[in-house]
Amino acid sequence: MKDLFDLSGKTIIVTGSSRGIGKATAEQLAYRGANVCVSSRNLEPCQEVASSIQAQGGRAIAVRASISRPEDLAMLVAKTREAYGPVHGIVCNAATNPHYGSIDTLDDETHLKIYRNNVLSNVQLAKLVKDDMQQLRGGSIVIISSIAGFKGSSTIGAYGISKAADVQLARNLAVEWGPANIRVNCIAPGLVETRMAAALLADEALMRFTRESLPLRRLGQPEDIAGVAAFLMSDAASFVTGQTLIADGGALVV
Ligand SMILES: NC(=O)c1ccc[n+]([C@@H]2O[C@H](COP(=O)([O-])OP(=O)(O)OC[C@H]3O[C@@H](n4cnc5c(N)ncnc54)[C@H](OP(=O)(O)O)[C@@H]3O)[C@@H](O)[C@H]2O)c1
Repeated sequence: MKDLFDLSGKTIIVTGSSRGIGKATAEQLAYRGANVCVSSRNLEPCQEVASSIQAQGGRAIAVRASISRPEDLAMLVAKTREAYGPVHGIVCNAATNPHYGSIDTLDDETHLKIYRNNVLSNVQLAKLVKDDMQQLRGGSIVIISSIAGFKGSSTIGAYGISKAADVQLARNLAVEWGPANIRVNCIAPGLVETRMAAALLADEALMRFTRESLPLRRLGQPEDIAGVAAFLMSDAASFVTGQTLIADGGALVV
């Protein structure tokens, strides 16, 4: 018998893992045996997450890196490699949503920043680890998209465009890198209770819909997404590529 969900010895970088979905994901990957690199723009909270993982018997390092700086991404990969060897997986989790409101009031610079952080940085990070994955004869890339990429929105439109682009990016990379056994998938979470969702959590009509109409009748928690990421990283998902797994409490089916 074999544990298809085992991640022992696999080196995985999780961007934006000082809190929220990224933190829960880093913890779950470490719990399943992975060597994890915890990363965000601020070192101290990442060190706290890495220390907590280590204290529970897991393997983790902390690296400060902003996804908006290509040189930071290069350093993130180099430091991870230095600690644990070639990178088997990345969870492109960090993202930006700096504008809440109509697209009429969104300036071009902010729009480009959303694209750069939520789409281009994922391409840059993926390219940086491609050689490692080829050397390992396989790898897994998971991009955290959003159900905002599946619906129109009058408040988070550009963010939704970027998250829809991530879904297509996963398809494209899956086609291009599949022959090297590099799998590329997205997760599209629904509303998850984190700091990033603060503006949505303050929307009373949306909260009423969540409590009364969402099939599972609750908001998502970071762990709801972490388990899906661990699945996509593992051999249990070895024939899954180019897909987007929706984890939204049923929001898209009502
Ligand atoms: N929460 C939701 O309802 C929801 C729904 C669908 C999809 N998502 C997606 O889930 C992912 C995680 O979001 P979350 O809700 O967990 O947010 P969160 O709790 O606010 O955490 C965001 C993480 O990203 C880091 N970060 C932010 N900007 C960064 C940058 N430029 N470079 C590197 N790290 C950066 C933050 O740390 P620092 O501030 O220290 O950098 C933090 O660790 C995002 O891709 C988001 O779009 C969230």
